Amino acid sequence: MSSNKKVRRIAILTGGGDCPGLNAVIRAIVKPAIHEHGIAVYGLEDGFHGLIYRKARHLESGDVSGVLTLGGTILGSSNKDNPFDHEMNVNGRDQRVDVSGECVDYIHEMGWDALICIGGDGTQSMAQRFQELGVNVIGVPKTIDNDLSATDVTFGFQSAVDVATEAIDRLHTTAMSHHRVQIVEMMGRYAGWLTLYAGVAGGADVILIPEIEFDMEVVAEYCLYRSRHGKRFTIVAVAEGAKPKGGKMVVAKVLQDSPDPIRLGGIGKVVAETIAEKTGLEARATVLGHLQRGGSPVPYDRVLATRFGHAALDLVLQGKFGMMPALQGKDIVPVTLTDAIHQLKLVPADHSLVRVARDLGTCFGDRTEAG
Ligand code: F6P
Repeated sequence: MSSNKKVRRIAILTGGGDCPGLNAVIRAIVKPAIHEHGIAVYGLEDGFHGLIYRKARHLESGDVSGVLTLGGTILGSSNKDNPFDHEMNVNGRDQRVDVSGECVDYIHEMGWDALICIGGDGTQSMAQRFQELGVNVIGVPKTIDNDLSATDVTFGFQSAVDVATEAIDRLHTTAMSHHRVQIVEMMGRYAGWLTLYAGVAGGADVILIPEIEFDMEVVAEYCLYRSRHGKRFTIVAVAEGAKPKGGKMVVAKVLQDSPDPIRLGGIGKVVAETIAEKTGLEARATVLGHLQRGGSPVPYDRVLATRFGHAALDLVLQGKFGMMPALQGKDIVPVTLTDAIHQLKLVPADHSLVRVARDLGTCFGDRTEAG
């Protein structure tokens, strides 16, 4: 669509795992779309599920009233439905079928001039494929994992850091009382951003992230070192994707019907048991899990999500499709979906925050620290 064709109707979906700030994005699209530009906005239910099963509802201004501070997504989400590989029963047999053509037909039948896909790397990869099929697509980056290339930060990340930091703070006091090693397992998939930031913010003594393989001997020795030097507790922040040298990530389950079937989880328990065995210290593990994705977005995420939503609508109005608003420095800039998804953004092992933490005595499990 060229920039001078009048935009009349657009659709929005939220795909993949939810995170705080999704509703703030939706609100920042819907309100100006209706009031400033006279555009009709439709919300697809449960992400790509709504596109496959033709479930969309017309959104009125009232639908987005009061949702700025609300966690989750008013549209619902799904991290299972993939229009390019959809399980369905054909002639009595369950088969995986590409139904993207039917989805494109639906988009045309509904007269949508653009589709805004709010999601992480999985959602943006599918968005890019619809763009290649001729759909006018705009992406909006979200995820608590902060692992999307091309944007400095995804909304949802700071809210998750907030929850995880508060958890570390709370575990700190009880670990001190009981002279325990307290392990806190955090989400983040293959990236250690969440654990690194919450670990530094909460003053964790040990931070274990996927990007830096750890040695259990080093971690155990560090706990003992602290204990011998009068620190009768240790806080270990471990990312769900962290793994020991030469070892593997711990997989909690495999969801065959998901585009990204691996669900990580369980490393916290492994670390706790190994520390207890090697040191004789009492070690306990807490898994923060979906607590990190729930609840109200922090003000930073409300603002970022609002800026992203507004910028996404601007891109639609300018006819700049196949793009996504990204935060680069202080500015919101358009980047191509291809750039956004070409590789995961991982923590560089020499990231400045890693170096800062090391200088403060934090152990990353790869080498002995004098802390
Ligand atoms: O990508 C967001 C995320 O919360 C990851 O940190 C985590 O590994 C995964 O989703 C969990 O997915 P689910 O909600 O399907 O268990």
